[in-house]
Amino acid sequence: MPKSYLLIGTGGTIAGRASDAADLVSYQAGSVGVSELIGALPELAQWPLQVEQLAQLDSKDMDFATWTRLAQRIQQALDDPDIAAILVTHGTDTLEETAYFLHRVLQRQAKPVVLTAAMRPASSRSPDGPQNLLDALVLAAEPGARGVLVAVQGEVHRADRVRKVHSYSVNAFASPDSGPVARVENGCLRALASWPQAEGLGVLALERPWPRVELLWNAAGADGAVVPLFQELAAREGRRLGLVVAGTGNGTLSQALEAALRQAQAQGVAVLRASRCGAGPVIGGGLPSAGSLSPVQARVELLLRLLLDPRA
Ligand code: SIN
Repeated sequence: MPKSYLLIGTGGTIAGRASDAADLVSYQAGSVGVSELIGALPELAQWPLQVEQLAQLDSKDMDFATWTRLAQRIQQALDDPDIAAILVTHGTDTLEETAYFLHRVLQRQAKPVVLTAAMRPASSRSPDGPQNLLDALVLAAEPGARGVLVAVQGEVHRADRVRKVHSYSVNAFASPDSGPVARVENGCLRALASWPQAEGLGVLALERPWPRVELLWNAAGADGAVVPLFQELAAREGRRLGLVVAGTGNGTLSQALEAALRQAQAQGVAVLRASRCGAGPVIGGGLPSAGSLSPVQARVELLLRLLLDPRA
């Protein structure tokens, strides 16, 4: 029996519907079922697809419970010898977070997990979702492809490098320092770099209570006065606190913000420092560095570190 491909729908603009085909902004994301999306593509009739609607969200509303269900379902499918690859349709807005989350928690397997999305709703005159979905399938069927990957606009990005870089253009994703790992061109995949591997932290710890991890920015006048307020809030909730700070340039902080964060760190708050530039790593000493992760990916990283910390 041929292996099947599991396609999981979670919502997003790829599943968006507007009352007017010309409306590319005021649509309802997460409206069209994933079965309906593939039903509109006759090319897919021959594909051994298994389709599941796991969520139907605008991804700005993505939450930890949905992440947990998604990761557990994908892990199950990775472990299933009858499934060749997993595809996920997702909103673009938090795609880089979900992709990085999956990259960190899923066990290594010699099959790919491919996320895809769209910037124009399914109801538009010229939607980008159908081509992205077809390209995602080309990638999913590629012998040797593995790891968590994002397929959009003919480009394939690693989950730990990808960022949403445009608010409206269909060309909304990039891997700023490294570029894509592959391209899909007229139905053929051209690999440009080696495939990544998921990092296998595991999906069981996700059932514990999640910590509170907040994002702060360094900017003119940033004084860190909000730091003790987050500490009070987390203490009231009985949750561990983590703070990710998006520093200026290569991760620098105002003296006042750095002092507030160092004080919180001395009191047990976990701190991670990213850069608010769209590209490039945190360089140089100081509070713990998030390397090249975007601030929102650094937040995922800190959430997972606190979840997995045996002291939690
Ligand atoms: C969403 O992220 O769910 C809405 C926006 C999009 O998919 O482009």
